[in-house]
Amino acid sequence: MTLTVTLPTVEDTHAFGRRLAGVLRAGDLLLLTGPLGAGKTALTQGIGAGLGVLGAITSPTFVIARVHRPDPARGGTVALVHADAYRLGDAADPRAEIDDLDLDASVDDSVTVVEWGEGLVEQLVDTHLRVRLDRREDDTRLVELEPVGGDWARRLAALR
Ligand SMILES: Nc1ncnc2c1ncn2[C@@H]1O[C@H](COP(=O)(O)OP(=O)(O)OP(=O)(O)O)[C@@H](O)[C@H]1O
Ligand SMILES: [Mg+2]
Repeated sequence: MTLTVTLPTVEDTHAFGRRLAGVLRAGDLLLLTGPLGAGKTALTQGIGAGLGVLGAITSPTFVIARVHRPDPARGGTVALVHADAYRLGDAADPRAEIDDLDLDASVDDSVTVVEWGEGLVEQLVDTHLRVRLDRREDDTRLVELEPVGGDWARRLAALR
């Protein structure tokens, strides 16, 4: 059971991220897959806006992970941890590895978004939301959300 949505423009991708944020809570792990330039960071920016976190969300390519603290003035209550899987090792559970970074934010208290890139999806990670972004010929994007364990299927149903 997957949810597929067409995202004609980057603004649509931001808006979808804000909507998705509405069903997220502390402890969540989102694995974003898709080729370079597919819109993984753009979607994360929308999620960050929806969560009401501080700081510009940019590609984490040159750091392993970045913590965006919640901004109470914008209704934020939970931090966003934004990581790039290429900078993580190939441990089976990115959450454990991110916790090892000593980020001053634990994955249990944060929403964790990992830009997972291509070819890493075969790894076994328990409960998470798999988010696949693809760029089509006409430059629009397609996002496919696949629930893996937990109550993700029920939460996705609320997004339909
Ligand atoms: N519908 C769309 N959704 C998302 N981005 C779009 C869309 N249309 C055009 N773009 C553009 O495509 C680019 C997407 O870049 P982004 O950094 O989000 O990709 P990425 O998947 O994170 O790439 P990388 O693998 O390098 O991290 C941006 O320049 C954005 O403006
Ligand atoms: Mg990116």
